[in-house]
Amino acid sequence: MASGFCLRIFAYVPFLLARFCTITIPAEVPKIEESLFNLTLNLQEARSPSPAGDATENLLLSPLGFSLVLGQIAAGANPVLREAIGGLLGWNEDTDDLTNIHTYHENILRNYSAGDEESSLQININSALFHRDFIEIRQNFQELVEESYATELIPLAENATENEHQQTVNNWVKNVTKDIIQTFPISAKTISLFANVVYFNAEWEEPFSDQLTRPGKFFPTADKTTNATYLQGQQEIPYMENKELDFKMIRMPYKSSKFNMSMYILAPQKHNLQEIIQNLTLSKFLEYRDQMSVKTVNLKIPKVSLKSKIQLKGDLEREIKKSLNGSKTISKTFDYFSLPNVSDDSKCSLSNVVQESTFNVYEKGTTFAALTAGYINYDGTAKNCRVDKPYLSIIMDDSNNIMLFWARIYHPSV
Ligand SMILES: *[C@@H]1O[C@H](CO)[C@@H](O)[C@H](O)[C@H]1NC(C)=O
Ligand SMILES: *[C@@H]1O[C@H](CO)[C@@H](O)[C@H](O)[C@H]1NC(C)=O
Ligand SMILES: *[C@@H]1O[C@H](CO)[C@@H](O)[C@H](O)[C@H]1NC(C)=O
Ligand SMILES: *[C@@H]1O[C@H](CO)[C@@H](O)[C@H](O)[C@H]1NC(C)=O
Ligand SMILES: *[C@@H]1O[C@H](CO)[C@@H](O)[C@H](O)[C@H]1NC(C)=O
Ligand SMILES: *[C@@H]1O[C@H](CO)[C@@H](O)[C@H](O)[C@H]1NC(C)=O
Ligand SMILES: *[C@@H]1O[C@H](CO)[C@@H](O)[C@H](O)[C@H]1NC(C)=O
Ligand SMILES: *[C@@H]1O[C@H](CO)[C@@H](O)[C@H](O)[C@H]1NC(C)=O
Ligand SMILES: *[C@@H]1O[C@H](CO)[C@@H](O)[C@H](O)[C@H]1NC(C)=O
Repeated sequence: MASGFCLRIFAYVPFLLARFCTITIPAEVPKIEESLFNLTLNLQEARSPSPAGDATENLLLSPLGFSLVLGQIAAGANPVLREAIGGLLGWNEDTDDLTNIHTYHENILRNYSAGDEESSLQININSALFHRDFIEIRQNFQELVEESYATELIPLAENATENEHQQTVNNWVKNVTKDIIQTFPISAKTISLFANVVYFNAEWEEPFSDQLTRPGKFFPTADKTTNATYLQGQQEIPYMENKELDFKMIRMPYKSSKFNMSMYILAPQKHNLQEIIQNLTLSKFLEYRDQMSVKTVNLKIPKVSLKSKIQLKGDLEREIKKSLNGSKTISKTFDYFSLPNVSDDSKCSLSNVVQESTFNVYEKGTTFAALTAGYINYDGTAKNCRVDKPYLSIIMDDSNNIMLFWARIYHPSV
C-alpha cells in the first residue's frame, strides 16, 4: 500500500491596532458563500499582472480566515470602514445590522469545531485578541467576539517586557499552528492584535503512490520551463472539460466520514489561467461542478510546498475611496481606520490586516509501501489530466459551498 497524501493549510490573519482601541454590530447578509468567492476574486484581481497574463505570482489565501477577522473588525469599526469591509466582501451595504454575518460565522465555527473523530480530517479555527491590559475593551464587543467568534482575549500586561509580550503571542501562534509558524512579530507600537488561524489537515480519499512520484517540467509561461515534482496515478474521480475556455477540472475528495471537502483543480490546457479566473463566479463554479462525472483519470499534479503573505490595507483604502466618492460629509481629519466600538479609547485604529499561508501537498510516511496502488494503466478510455501549466487549486466544503482555500499557482516550487 502506498502512503497517503496529506495536505496542510494554515493561514493566520492578525490585525494590528496601532494605538488604543468597543463595539457593535452591522447587517443583513445575503450569501456569505458568494461573498467569500467574491472577496477572493477581488483580492486576486488587485494582485494580477497585466491583462496579457504573462508570468505572475502565486497567490494563496484563506477566504474564510479573512471573513472571520473582517467580521470582527466590522463590529468595532467606524461606519466608513464598516462599509469598506462590506464592499470588499460584498455584504449587503444598505443595512446596519451585522447580526446575520456574526450568526453565520458562529455556525460555521460550531460545525467545524465538532471535528471529525472517525477520520483524519482536521479543520481547526482559532481566534485571539491580544491587547495591552490598559485598554478597556467594551463589554459588548468582548461578548460578541467571545460568543460568535470563540475569540480568546489575551491581555499583554503593562509591566511585562516587549520580549515577554512577543513570547505570549508566539506561544499562541505555535500552539494553534502545531509549530508550523513559530513567530508572529509584534512591535512596541502594537496595542492590540487580532489573530485568526485556520488549520486544515486531511488525507486524500484515494492516496497517490509515492513510488510514482517523479521530477518533471512545469511551464509557468509558454516560453519558460521550471522543475517540479509530480504526483501521478490513475483514479476514478469527478472530471469535466470546458471547451470554450479550454480547461479541465477535477475533484479530489478528502477522506472524512463527516465532512464533504475536496480539492478542485482547474487545469488550463494553454496559458490562459487569468482568462479563466476572470470568467469565474461562484455560480459558474457550481455549474462546472454539476457538469462533472466520474471518469478514470490519469493524473499528474505538482507536489507543492508554498508560503505566501498578503496584506489588505491597500484593498481597504480602495474601498474607502469608493464609498467616499462624491461624499463631502466626512472631514479630512477623520481617521477612516478608527475602531470606536472596540474601546472607548478614541485612539484605537486599524493598522493592517495580514494573512500568511502555507500550503503543502506531500506524501506522508512510507509505512505501507507496496506496489499495489496507482499503476497507470493507459487504457483507451482513461482521461488524462496533466497539470503542468499555471493552475488553480480550490478547497471547498461542498456541503456548505464554503471556499476554504484558494491557490493560484504559477510556480509550484519556490
Ligand atoms: C458604536 O458605538 C456607538 C456609541 O456607543 C453607538 O451609537 C453605535 O450604534 C455603535 N455602532 C455599532 C455598529 O454598533
Ligand atoms: C458577487 O459577484 C457577482 C459577480 O460580480 C455579483 O453578481 C454578485 O452580486 C456578488 N455577490 C455578492 C454577495 O457580493
Ligand atoms: C452546520 O451543520 C448543520 C447540520 O449539519 C447544517 O444544516 C448547516 O448548514 C451547517 N452550517 C454551516 C454554516 O456549516
Ligand atoms: C505585574 O503586575 C501584576 C499585578 O498587577 C503582578 O502580579 C505581576 O507579578 C507583575 N509582573 C511583573 C513582571 O512585575
Ligand atoms: C494550546 O491549545 C490547546 C488546545 O488547542 C489548549 O487547550 C491550550 O490551552 C493551548 N495552550 C496555550 C498556551 O494557548
Ligand atoms: C532542472 O533540473 C535539471 C536537472 O534535472 C537541471 O539541469 C536544471 O538546471 C534545472 N532547472 C532549473 C530551472 O532549476
Ligand atoms: C468570459 O467573460 C467575458 C467577459 O465577461 C465574456 O464576454 C465571455 O463570453 C466569457 N467566456 C466564456 C467562455 O464564458
Ligand atoms: C466616482 O463617481 C463618479 C460619478 O458618480 C464615477 O464616474 C467615478 O468612476 C467614481 N470613482 C470611483 C473611484 O469610484
Ligand atoms: C459531496 O459534494 C459533491 C459536490 O456537491 C457531491 O457530488 C457529492 O455527492 C457529495 N458527497 C457526499 C458524500 O455527500
